Amino acid sequence: MEIMYTTELSKPGATVQPIAPQEDPELLAAFEARVAADEFIEPKDWMPEAYRKTLTRQISQHAHSEIVGMLPEGNWITRAPSLRRKAILLAKVQDEAGHGLYLYCAAETLGTSREEMIEALHSGKAKYSTIFNYPTLTWADIAAIGWLVDGAAIMNQVPLQRTSYGPYARAMVRVCKEESFHQRQGYEAMTELANGTPEQKRMAQDAFNRWWWPSLMMFGPPDENSPNTAQSLRWRIKRETNDELRQKFVDITVPQAEFLGLTVPDPELKWNEAKGGYDFGEIDWEEFYAVVRSEGPVARERITARREAWTQNAWVREAAAAHEAKRRSRAAA
Ligand code: 3HC
Repeated sequence: MEIMYTTELSKPGATVQPIAPQEDPELLAAFEARVAADEFIEPKDWMPEAYRKTLTRQISQHAHSEIVGMLPEGNWITRAPSLRRKAILLAKVQDEAGHGLYLYCAAETLGTSREEMIEALHSGKAKYSTIFNYPTLTWADIAAIGWLVDGAAIMNQVPLQRTSYGPYARAMVRVCKEESFHQRQGYEAMTELANGTPEQKRMAQDAFNRWWWPSLMMFGPPDENSPNTAQSLRWRIKRETNDELRQKFVDITVPQAEFLGLTVPDPELKWNEAKGGYDFGEIDWEEFYAVVRSEGPVARERITARREAWTQNAWVREAAAAHEAKRRSRAAA
């Protein structure tokens, strides 16, 4: 299989325009010059308030996606078909927890506390990726998630290694390396199913049918309906648009599906020689917006699980805080 993912970033990004005239013009000009020169902005540097706000929004939503993403996979750990698969899945779910932690830390450097972010998630104010509001019905869904969902996540996150905010960019370097492992293990599990018994192959195709379109939705609304993209490109928070990344994902994934002998569930999918990529069918944007509004099949289940985990595990946070207080008072004595 030649076409796989790379953690290299290949594209420079858009030019910077003045966008926040209410800010001190000198500070703004210096900030914009630094962004234009591809310098990282660090936590103590001056930044426009709108930059801080949109970064906090994006990073915290990204963090929430990582930890909510543990739920659909976590419930398959005890049911994984072998010890090897169990160990891999356990490691993967732990990785996602780690990604959430790096990202919450990166968002905290912008001045919002972890508690505030978690509260926003639990109260429904903050979003998390639509993809995690779909159920995992069979073992093949876990393979499909690794292959497609982690594959889409890498496509989205590799450019974020060069996002303009230093702590976010640095967190992404490690996250991308781990996501790359996640994608490969998913593809390997899918390969085994696709080459297995007729029943296993049927399961693989069924999971592919159900996860294909939601994976394309992960990249967000089409560019013409994406309120944040233009500004985020100018600030070099985002380095590529939603549609550019979605197209790249389709182009890289279709040959992978062909290699597996699976059929992409899109009758309109067709290679377009002129554009050097695939044309694909219309995404059901009504479904996307409904799932963003938490009307997905398992949205309530996900948030209930998160809230319960927060309440039931309060003793862990309290014990850790008490331990830290004791350690500090001993160190001070
Ligand atoms: N799910 C939920 N909400 C989504 C969404 C999705 N798939 N795509 C877009 N939205 C929301 C946006 O958050 C925004 O709402 P807001 O203004 O209230 O925040 C609104 O829809 C309009 O979308 P925009 O395109 O204007 O928003 P952005 O410029 O922020 O782009 C994004 C959306 C591409 C998701 C971008 O925020 C991004 O790149 N985020 C970082 C990556 C990320 O969050 N990935 C989550 C994937 S899962 C994951 O990484 C876990 C891994 O283990 C698999």
